[in-house]
Amino acid sequence: MYIDKFKVEEWFNKYEKDAVYDLADTCVESLSINELYELIGKSNLYCDEIFDKKLNYGAIHGSERLKQAISTLYSSQKMNNITITHGAIGANHLVMLSLIEPGDKVVSVVPTYQQHYSIPKSFGANVEMFFLEEKNNWLPDIDKLEKFVKNDTKIICLNNPNNPTGAVIPDNMLKDIVEIARKSNAYILCDEVYRGLNHNGNSFSVSIADIYEKGISTGSMSKVFSLAGLRLGWIVANSEIIEKINQQREYNTISVGILDDYFASLAIENKDLIINRNLNKIKTGKKILLDWANSDANIDLIPPSGGTTAFVKYNVDISSTILCSKLQKETGIMILPGETLELDGYLRIGYGNNFEQLEKALSIFSKWLRKF
Ligand SMILES: Cc1ncc(COP(=O)(O)O)c(C=O)c1O
Repeated sequence: MYIDKFKVEEWFNKYEKDAVYDLADTCVESLSINELYELIGKSNLYCDEIFDKKLNYGAIHGSERLKQAISTLYSSQKMNNITITHGAIGANHLVMLSLIEPGDKVVSVVPTYQQHYSIPKSFGANVEMFFLEEKNNWLPDIDKLEKFVKNDTKIICLNNPNNPTGAVIPDNMLKDIVEIARKSNAYILCDEVYRGLNHNGNSFSVSIADIYEKGISTGSMSKVFSLAGLRLGWIVANSEIIEKINQQREYNTISVGILDDYFASLAIENKDLIINRNLNKIKTGKKILLDWANSDANIDLIPPSGGTTAFVKYNVDISSTILCSKLQKETGIMILPGETLELDGYLRIGYGNNFEQLEKALSIFSKWLRKF
């Protein structure tokens, strides 16, 4: 079946291995198992617990321990509202595979992770892209969205907090979006892979699954818990939707790795320690980013309020693809061009990693940009 190229992944495949300064990463610095144990105060006595595990398929839809831990990330979700997947990428894919038929109308709020429009398009759905705008602080204009969603819209795809902009939809606005969906009886798939990394107030904003009967939340260990290598994610929704999804899931997952399930449970049970670490890192990186943006006349930036990425506007007349490929060739700095996210004139910068490199790379980038 035809599917468009995944532009962000292609960019990574082409440029990541030669990057001297990697400002494209969206994870907060990943943890080793030793670092995880140190952070949560466990000794390597726990090794026996791991080495004694029989490497069978484990619990098919995820262990009770893991589902119990995930339920603590939501306000009203039980075991039968949760299924475990191969990362958030597997979660989003399974949701679409289970719910979208050829000819269905899909509204995808962009910029977003490309899965949210390219997969439904490849299934033969009619995908309409609703573009977020910088002038609205990258938040949806509710009146416009209301007109955009039609009676027969089957599903609205959102990403909150948003990659790349770092915008977080305020709770009241999310409720307005639910009302729009409810009128059309549409599902909302909300990719909540950065939920837990709000910079101000409660680090977890409201989940779509907790406020809408047809709301589907996807999440994972990659960003909030710095454990992308576990390749573990989840879907949370009402039990009928989960049943439907599990029917598809039997054909493509069986179960996730038993060790991935174990470490994910341990990490989520210690969520406060990991999230504190990550929010501190984000605070440091964000300060470097904002100081840089304020001091460079070529750069405009709506400060991110969640997640690990910012979407930067540059005031130079050159396409973002050409800019980023020239930049990397001449300086070794890897930044993601907005064109890979359907919005030229912008650049995505990840700021949750390696702060010395971040500061140095941004200063080199500013000097380099002045030559245009
Ligand atoms: C918005 C969004 N959704 C999903 C994913 C995939 O996450 P995972 O690594 O958990 O599969 C990413 C990864 O960058 C992402 O940014």
